[in-house]
Amino acid sequence: MDIRFQTGGPSRWKADVVITFVFEGEGVEEACPVLSQSALWLGIAPAWRDFRGHRDELVMFYGPQAMEISRVLGAGLGRVDKADLTVFRHAVGRAVRLCREYDLATVGLDGASLARVAERMGVALETLTREAVISAFLALYRYERWKSEKSRHDDPRWLALMLEGEFVEDGVRAAARMAEAEAAGIMLARDAANDPANVMTPSAFAEKAREVAVKYGMTLRVLGPSDLESEGMNAYLAVARGSAEEPRMAVVEYVPRGAEGRDPVVLVGKGLCFDSGGISLKPAKGMEEMKGDMSGAAAVLGVMEALGRLAPSCAPKRPVVGIMACAENMPGGHATRPGDIVVAKNGKSVEIVNTDAEGRLVLADALCWAQNVYVPFRLIDIATLTGACAVALGMDAAGLFSSDDALAALLHEAGMNLGERNWRLPLWTDAGLASLKSACADMVNSGRREGGAINAAVFLQQFVKEDVRWAHIDMAAADNAENPINAKGATGFGVRTMLSAVWEDEGDILQ
Ligand code: BES
Ligand code: MN
Ligand code: ZN
Repeated sequence: MDIRFQTGGPSRWKADVVITFVFEGEGVEEACPVLSQSALWLGIAPAWRDFRGHRDELVMFYGPQAMEISRVLGAGLGRVDKADLTVFRHAVGRAVRLCREYDLATVGLDGASLARVAERMGVALETLTREAVISAFLALYRYERWKSEKSRHDDPRWLALMLEGEFVEDGVRAAARMAEAEAAGIMLARDAANDPANVMTPSAFAEKAREVAVKYGMTLRVLGPSDLESEGMNAYLAVARGSAEEPRMAVVEYVPRGAEGRDPVVLVGKGLCFDSGGISLKPAKGMEEMKGDMSGAAAVLGVMEALGRLAPSCAPKRPVVGIMACAENMPGGHATRPGDIVVAKNGKSVEIVNTDAEGRLVLADALCWAQNVYVPFRLIDIATLTGACAVALGMDAAGLFSSDDALAALLHEAGMNLGERNWRLPLWTDAGLASLKSACADMVNSGRREGGAINAAVFLQQFVKEDVRWAHIDMAAADNAENPINAKGATGFGVRTMLSAVWEDEGDILQ
């Protein structure tokens, strides 16, 4: 689907359908005075009689077929005082899905309506435009790769922002372009996480990273088993050993013009292409979901994709390094046994008491490597790390851990604005360490069940140098969803939050 702009007001707009937004209790003259100037029939459309503007409500209004605008799709937003950006995103999602179901090839978004909604909701028009465009893309995303019978309905050919003025304002155009790039990154992440583990192996993931790097002229480094070994990444290797699939750590480096030599933002993603639990085997029920245990790495690659698409117009002021630590956790003959002890890259020894607590082992070495090779301006890891995080926060949120208040605030606020709930949890080092005590090594890899997400975060902290600004995002609960902008399956969670952390530079968020 292309993004287009139509200018000059409603008399010049033309599309198979125009989407307009309606708050609860509004009539046509209140909701869309501008649109109805051109689509005069709209003012007397009979369907208004039953349209209440409730949240989730959709009504199609039909005018004479010969008109330039002969269909208007009203999307209800509910009460103004209750409407937030999530309500808005879902309204857009439902509306464009209906357009696709009706095989409408060209879709307009009533710009006057967007401006009014922005004003009434107290958000900038650029923000609402960005959310509208990204929601349209995300709603239409579907994963049909393996279906021999594809959907009978094609996506709309284009979505046009229909503007009242003669020109497209720079801010609005930039917002739409940014949304398009973000959506591309998210959809790439969703595809990677939805792909089954027999296809999206660590090597296949590294190839995907190569494609992104080549497409945008970024540099790529891939570390295989022998590289990991010579780098002393024994905790990482301990996880991969039980699998016939070799591990791959893919590193994509993007240095925007003018950012050479500056300290980079470093992103590290957990890339467990499949997590069977290893010898500490998981129960059969739901194990298939562990094909998505590389969602962190997928989100990191999604960030690189979005950055590549936006370059050079919206280049960050610093280099960005995406590290994707891929492996498969399997109970093969060479698999790590509970009780095995390994020495991680920073020299700390770990007694692996539970081979299902593998993500932290992989990340521990990846984090060490990141700090050896780079001097991170900020270091952010993202991982489907603990079921305990889902127990703590529910299914639509990620745990956010950082001892840096400013970085935690940045990630929390950016995420909340962008539809990614990053909720700060405490990094209680003393409690975590107490729970990770080992009789024979520096620590065990799995502590008490109580505070499981915190214990995991404290484990990772043992591999981060004290002066490094680091944050950890546990997205175990947020990796899957089903809602109007998310076809059942992977979410691509984290892409938008991390992009904010890349663009934000010393204080001001460059959204
Ligand atoms: N990948 C899982 C965590 C997970 C669970 C992600 C459910 C998404 C949905 C992780 O590797 C894991 O197995 N964690 C264990 C840790 C425990 C052994 C300390 C868990 O959460 O049970
Ligand atoms: Mn596990
Ligand atoms: Zn895992």
